[in-house]
Amino acid sequence: MALTVVPIDERPDLEPMLWDFDNLWPVFLQQDPISNLYYNRVSEDFVEFSMIAFDDAEPERPVARSFAVPFVLGEEVGRPVLPEDGWDGVIRWGWHDHALGRTPTHVSALEIAIRPDMRGAGLAPVMLAAMRDNVKRLGFDDLYAPVRPSQKTKEPHTPMSEYAWRTRDDGLPYDPWLRVHVRAGGELLSVCPRAMTIAGSLAEWRDWTGQPFDITGDIEVPGALNPVHCSVEHDHAVYTEPRVWVHHRLG
Ligand SMILES: CC(C)(COP(=O)(O)OP(=O)(O)OC[C@H]1O[C@@H](n2cnc3c(N)ncnc32)[C@H](O)[C@@H]1OP(=O)(O)O)[C@@H](O)C(=O)NCCC(=O)NCCS
Repeated sequence: MALTVVPIDERPDLEPMLWDFDNLWPVFLQQDPISNLYYNRVSEDFVEFSMIAFDDAEPERPVARSFAVPFVLGEEVGRPVLPEDGWDGVIRWGWHDHALGRTPTHVSALEIAIRPDMRGAGLAPVMLAAMRDNVKRLGFDDLYAPVRPSQKTKEPHTPMSEYAWRTRDDGLPYDPWLRVHVRAGGELLSVCPRAMTIAGSLAEWRDWTGQPFDITGDIEVPGALNPVHCSVEHDHAVYTEPRVWVHHRLG
């Protein structure tokens, strides 16, 4: 396949393709209220940080997309370290910084997603390399990423602090998506234990997952990285997703 990956500021005509995907993420994962602070502003505020990939033989159909957000990191803005609430935190920072007109110092990856029928074909490293190049093109030396280890879904009860640092005999991460990051030059930094928080009534969770949510306690949900906490008495359930901060030094 001849894959073309372009930033949307270079091909604004392709912006609608960013939204032309089905089933990229489980439904429950699309309910994080913070996410739309970013997605709703992509076209206006973050267009140069968004990329689309297509097969040259079928240019009207997108194969993958990526998103990143610029933000300010540093003592002077009260942010000495990366946020414990990874994805949510960095989106809020980027949103505020943009609203205040601050000049960003760093960039965080938010998403690299490949069309479900195109997964497993070796495109992940290509998309990550394209994002690294794009962030460099935009003048940044550091790319961070609150990475969602892809095979953690198979072990929801294993603590992320144990899973993320598990290695194979060759010393590379056990998890394939973390492995792609490390091969590309990324360094695993820390777990962000509450990278994304999704709360809902039990009716909402039933709607999002098709599961009964009729037991108080930990519920396994397909696609989740750890169990969802459910309270039948209080009619709510809460999912807190752990992720792994990875640093790509580009300079
Ligand atoms: C995560 C994602 C981008 C990876 O892309 P992919 O097309 O599945 O991965 P690739 O084919 O490029 O393979 C990358 C590595 O994963 C491994 N891999 C691919 N599919 C796998 C599977 N189903 N099970 C185990 N390993 C798998 C490959 O063997 C390869 O590892 P290796 O190079 O050490 O052999 C893709 O699965 C995706 O879009 N997932 C949904 C969105 C998502 O979670 N994005 C990441 C958010 S941070």
